[in-house]
Amino acid sequence: MSVLIRGGRIVTAADSTIGDVYIEGERVSLIGEQLDVDADIVIDATGKLVLPGAIDPHTHLEMPFGGTVTIDDFTSGQTAAAFGGTTCHVDFAIQSKGQTFTAALDEWSAKASGKAVIDYGFHIIVTDLEEGGTLEELGTLPDRGVTSYKMLMAYKGVFLVDDETLFKVMELAARTGALAMIHGENGEVIDVLVRRAVAEGRLEPRYHALTRPPELEGEATNRAIQIARVAGAPLYVVHVTCKESVDAIRVARAKNWDVWGETCTQYFFIDDTFLDEPDFGGAKYVFSPPVRDKANQPVLWDAVRTDVLSAISTDHCAFLLDGQKTLGRDDFSKIPNGAPGLEDRLRMIHHFGVNEGRITLNRMVELLSTNAARLFGLYPKKGTIAPGSDADIVIFDPNRKKTITAADQHSKSDYNLFEGTEVTGDVDTTLIRGTVVVDGGELKVEPGFGQFVKRAKFGEELRSAR
Ligand code: URP
Ligand code: ZN
Repeated sequence: MSVLIRGGRIVTAADSTIGDVYIEGERVSLIGEQLDVDADIVIDATGKLVLPGAIDPHTHLEMPFGGTVTIDDFTSGQTAAAFGGTTCHVDFAIQSKGQTFTAALDEWSAKASGKAVIDYGFHIIVTDLEEGGTLEELGTLPDRGVTSYKMLMAYKGVFLVDDETLFKVMELAARTGALAMIHGENGEVIDVLVRRAVAEGRLEPRYHALTRPPELEGEATNRAIQIARVAGAPLYVVHVTCKESVDAIRVARAKNWDVWGETCTQYFFIDDTFLDEPDFGGAKYVFSPPVRDKANQPVLWDAVRTDVLSAISTDHCAFLLDGQKTLGRDDFSKIPNGAPGLEDRLRMIHHFGVNEGRITLNRMVELLSTNAARLFGLYPKKGTIAPGSDADIVIFDPNRKKTITAADQHSKSDYNLFEGTEVTGDVDTTLIRGTVVVDGGELKVEPGFGQFVKRAKFGEELRSAR
C-alpha cells in the first residue's frame, strides 16, 4: 500500500517546507516537491500542516488508583489520542507491592493487547525493592524495550519511595541505559498537611492545592536532581507546574547536567481558583501536582519556549466526575487524582502556543513529538517525518475552528478540562505506520491495530546533542 500526501506544509522540529510525502508500506519513502509517483491513496493537503504524529510520554490508561480505576482503557484512551493527533504514547506499568517487574509488565501488556489503536510503550513505576522485584530484575527491562524507570516521591503509603530507593534505581538506570523519571513532590510533608486539614474539617477540593504547596514540588525536584547527579543518572522530571521546580531544572540544565522536564497542557490554562467551582465542580481539577497560582502560567510558557522544559504531556488519568470523583465529595483527600486530556493537547498548544505567538510551529513539534521520541528511545523511528521513519503523520487544518466539549470527545470521562474553549486548528487525518487511523471524523482501524514499541536505550548521542 502506498500513500501520497500532496502539497501540505511539512513541519518538523527543524524545517517547514511545502511539498509531498510519499509513503510505501509503513514508512516514509520520499519527501520532495511535486513528486512524480503513483500511489494507492492520494491525500490533498494543500493549505494544511503535515506534522509528525504527536507522542505523549505520560498517560495512565486502565490504572487502579484512588479506590477506583481510570475510566479510559487502551481502546477509548487511544481513540481519544488518535482523534487529537497523538500516534504513540508511553503509559506506566506499575509494580504493585510484592510484585516482580516482569509480572507488572505482563499485566499492563495484557491490558493493551488486542485493544490498542495507536502505538504504545511502557515505562515501569518502581514501588518496592524489598519483597517483589529486585534491582537485578529491573536491570533486565531495557533489553525488553522498557527504557525508563519512574519513581514517585509523593503518595505516601501508595507509590512513594524513599531516597535510598531513588538513589539505587538511579544508579541502575545509569548502568543499564534507562532514563530515571520522578514525580517530584515531598510526599512525607504533604501527608502531614493533608491529615491536619482533614482533622480540622477543611474538606473542600481547594484544600488539595493548599496541602501540596509549590515549595514541596521545588524541594523534591531539586533533591531528585542532586541525587541523580551523585548517581550519575539522566533524569526526567514529570509534570512540572511551578516556578520553584522550573528554577531547579533551569539551574541544572545551565550546568549541562542530564536533566529534562515536562509540563502538561492543563497547567498552562487551569489555576487554583478553578478548585472553587461550585457544586463539587472543583473536583474536576483535582490532580497532582495541583493547579497553581496563575502567576506560574507565563513561567511555564517561558520554560517551554527557552528549552528549560523539553516536552508537554497530558498526564491523561481520566475519571468520571459523577461516580468516581464523587468518592471524595465529603473529603478532598479521597477524590481520585487525575483528569482527561489526551485528545486536546495538540489543538490547545497549537492555538494558545502557536496562534498566539508564544512558540513557533517547529518548537510545538519538538515539544509534542520530537523531544519525547529522542528522550524515550523512539527517534528517528518516530517523532519526525523523514525517509525511513514510521509514517506517523497528522494532517492538521490550521484554519478549522473547533469548540472543545465533552459532548463530542472520545474519552469516556464525563467532563473536559477545557469545556467551551474555542480554538482555531484541528486534526483532519491521522496516519500511523502508513495506515489512515482517523479521517473525516471516523476511526478507521479496529482495536488491535496499535503495536507495542520496543524503545531504544537512553543514549550518549542525546546527551551530547542537548
Ligand atoms: O493526579 C494525577 N496526576 N494522577 C496520575 C498519577 C500521577 O501523579 O501522575
Ligand atoms: Zn501521571
